[in-house]
Amino acid sequence: MQFEMKNVSKVYQASEENKVYGAKNINLTIKSGEFSALVGPSGSGKTTLLNLIAGLILPTEGTLSHGGKDITSFSLEERTQHRLDYMGFIFQDYQLLPVLTAAENIEFPLQLKNIDQKEIKERVLWALKQVGLENMGHRFPRQLSGGQQQRVSIARAISTRPQLILADEPTANLDSKTASDIIELFKKLNQEFHLTFVFSTHDQRLIDQVRTVMYIKDAQITETRINNNV
Ligand SMILES: Nc1ncnc2c1ncn2[C@@H]1O[C@H](COP(=O)(O)OP(=O)(O)O)[C@@H](O)[C@H]1O
Ligand SMILES: [Mg+2]
Repeated sequence: MQFEMKNVSKVYQASEENKVYGAKNINLTIKSGEFSALVGPSGSGKTTLLNLIAGLILPTEGTLSHGGKDITSFSLEERTQHRLDYMGFIFQDYQLLPVLTAAENIEFPLQLKNIDQKEIKERVLWALKQVGLENMGHRFPRQLSGGQQQRVSIARAISTRPQLILADEPTANLDSKTASDIIELFKKLNQEFHLTFVFSTHDQRLIDQVRTVMYIKDAQITETRINNNV
């Protein structure tokens, strides 16, 4: 499934005379199986772009399509269902529920789908294995390191078998070695399962690990670079 943005702008209206562009005339195509990063400083528009792709916010201008479907024409319910069916999310602060174990956190989105309990258990074990935490399912988030918590959130994101994974500064709270390991895990999942990745970062050191790097500044994509050796 290909994702396309055509002439997309998002204007935030803080007050009558105070308008801020979160995205300005963005054109981009994310091909199926793409491994890409949005790189730019704080306030450049990374979160806005990811939220637009996710259908969490609507553009002020322009169109977005996913798998040939115009998601700007969807109702709120349709956008929510589309997200649940095709997308997985990873956040800077992991967003794990502290009262649930790692396994229960991974199970959570699966319970929102119409999947039988036996398959849910199988998928949780599969997802824990993919992120290298097969023996940690019983632990609570507070009993895990930051890198391990992010692995649980990755397991949760892939457990629904999405097509597209969106990650907003997934390594911002991690040291550089752990951050690099997380990007390697993304790459493994990208290659093994043909999962499409778009993640944002302001860490220039990670960009060598990424095939398509989109530089973003003042709400605009200023340059797109392809690393052919990735
Ligand atoms: N809800 C909002 N209301 C008003 N302005 C916003 C809102 N969200 C983001 N912005 C503005 O949009 C621009 C891009 O922000 P954002 O997408 O959060 O960038 P980044 O994720 O790269 O830090 C910034 O100028 C920011 O202040
Ligand atoms: Mg942001």
